[in-house]
Amino acid sequence: MINEYISTHKDRFISELFEWLRIPSISADSHYKGDVRKAAEFLKEKLMAAGADNVEICETKGHPIVYGEKIVNPSLPTVLVYGHYDVQPADPINLWDSPPFEPVIKNDKIYARGACDDKGQVYMHVKAFEAMMKLNQLPCNVKFMVEGEEEVGSDNLGVFVKDNKAKLKADVILISDTALISLEHPSITTGLRGLSYMEVEVTGPNRDLHSGVYGGAVANPINTLCTMIDSLHDENGRVAIPGFYDKVAELTAAEREAMNKAPFDLNAYKSELGIGDIKGEKGYTTLERTGVRPTLDVNGIWGGYTGEGAKTVLPSKASAKISMRLVPNQVSAEITELFTKHFNSLAPASVKVKVTAHHGGEPAVTATDSPAYKAASKAFEEVFGKSPIPTRDGGSIPIVALFKRELGLDTVLLGFGLDSDAIHSPNEHYGVKNFLLGIETISSFYKHYTQK
Ligand code: BES
Ligand code: MN
Ligand code: MN
Repeated sequence: MINEYISTHKDRFISELFEWLRIPSISADSHYKGDVRKAAEFLKEKLMAAGADNVEICETKGHPIVYGEKIVNPSLPTVLVYGHYDVQPADPINLWDSPPFEPVIKNDKIYARGACDDKGQVYMHVKAFEAMMKLNQLPCNVKFMVEGEEEVGSDNLGVFVKDNKAKLKADVILISDTALISLEHPSITTGLRGLSYMEVEVTGPNRDLHSGVYGGAVANPINTLCTMIDSLHDENGRVAIPGFYDKVAELTAAEREAMNKAPFDLNAYKSELGIGDIKGEKGYTTLERTGVRPTLDVNGIWGGYTGEGAKTVLPSKASAKISMRLVPNQVSAEITELFTKHFNSLAPASVKVKVTAHHGGEPAVTATDSPAYKAASKAFEEVFGKSPIPTRDGGSIPIVALFKRELGLDTVLLGFGLDSDAIHSPNEHYGVKNFLLGIETISSFYKHYTQK
């Protein structure tokens, strides 16, 4: 039995995951290029040991993609598992209670960068596969495609998918890289937001100036940038870029009602984040604001003097990184263009503005009436004793829309993280229980997916 296999081997599963988590596979920082490759090699070894065939490290222009497969019988369905082995940078490192690449278990949670996003969740698939192989219970074909550039925009994945359509032929995509409402309220993510990520630079005088000698007479680029950014939202919390909402798919009253039936405790939400109140687009609930409404947020802002003590300076430049989360049917390239045009038009004659686009990605909605979704639903019922609630998540996994477009495939987002797992933050963690129940649920998915 699968459950018995999991409980017999769980300590080994966790110590193997620890070994993977010790490799700092930070894709954003070229300093860690060798470690990113080491993490790919680790996965290759483990897939081979679990019984996968044709396991290879596929080179790209950036970090490699790990591929492996087990074709039981070509006439059976094929599940393509996608995930990422790269992680976010660990900084601010001084805010971690234990070093980010020295995993530890505290209160039944694994603390490490990548514990939840996404090594811990990818590893559930490797171990579910191992269990099914060892017990001779793998009921269909499996392909694994795990990339090392998800956290930096998956620049080379699109090319890989386009060039390898035959190799990647499958019936459904399975991804564990999202969150559950809670262990008491299992859920399946049925939608993800898209993204347009921008950088802006405002330039005033041709050099930093004495803020006493010139202050009051020359436009300060930081002041100007702040005013420009402030004007990007109106008094109702809506994004004030002309055309921004033109293509936004509004939910029907029934869809909104269904969405807001999901359990949500506002007080718990506020206290977990240490905030006195919430804020967002008028007329929408928190679940709607993060799930089905587009947003604009400053991710970083800099300029002038930020060192120790005080330096009186009127800076020459100010910059910011700004992201917009998109919903169906917004198109990333179009929103990028609307932003660029609008932001340039906001600039007063006293400054110059430069707008550059970073990566983007399209929003996605996944089917809830497909055989794969139904199998996932049954798997949750079997393991959690409750049928999962469909939810729309605020994060982005641009590959989901790309898989649909390039391969015509639907995705099932079988995620086991929790919003409180602190992904991308200091002290990222992943519940041991989530990890083990995830392995069980994944195995159960295969059973229900192939059962007639
Ligand atoms: N796993 C996350 C996305 C996510 C998190 C989806 C939680 C749903 C719930 C993924 O690794 C991620 O961080 N994606 C980036 C986008 C990418 C283009 C850099 C994101 O959402 O910022
Ligand atoms: Mn992820
Ligand atoms: Mn991430």
